[in-house]
Amino acid sequence: MALDLTILVGTMTGTAQLVAQELELTLDDGEVRVRTVMMDGLDAGVFSVGGLFLICSSTYGQGDVPDNAKNLYESLQTARPDLSNVQYGVIALGDRTYAETFCNGGKRFDAILSALGARRIGEIMLHDASAGTMPEEVAVTWVAGWISLCRKEARLTA
Ligand SMILES: Cc1cc2nc3c(=O)[nH]c(=O)nc-3n(C[C@H](O)[C@H](O)[C@H](O)COP(=O)(O)O)c2cc1C
Repeated sequence: MALDLTILVGTMTGTAQLVAQELELTLDDGEVRVRTVMMDGLDAGVFSVGGLFLICSSTYGQGDVPDNAKNLYESLQTARPDLSNVQYGVIALGDRTYAETFCNGGKRFDAILSALGARRIGEIMLHDASAGTMPEEVAVTWVAGWISLCRKEARLTA
């Protein structure tokens, strides 16, 4: 059974977008149909039909979501839709130099989505820009395990 996956990208300087592009190249094989959407201009309505989402977001400011993600994040906080038909994963990009707020952009999305009833599949992937690893390489390895968890869930709920 093919999985339909929407990757939502929150980025300031393009790293999260690069990660999403690599994931799309890796995953979009007929078994997984991937749609990648920049968060610019989105609001909570993007989740209205439900389904499987992957949040791919960096962190800025005082542990905030990036500028292009602000509208979506704030819309979730104010509209507070019921997201019980949404399953999601999170790739959070950050830098441990910002110890207090490490990867908070992705963590903020995780908190609001789960508060609204969406179900996270797997653990959040945290990437540390100061670690010397390439986020797109770490993500491609991580996503293989994540997709197999998604397939298991899809079989259980089919
Ligand atoms: C001005 C600035 C502020 C940042 N603030 C944080 C932060 O609070 N916490 C964190 O974990 N990373 C922080 N980062 C690191 C970025 O989230 C990280 O470099 C990320 O990979 C950038 O991805 P992007 O190009 O998709 O925006 C900050 C980076 C910059 C340049």
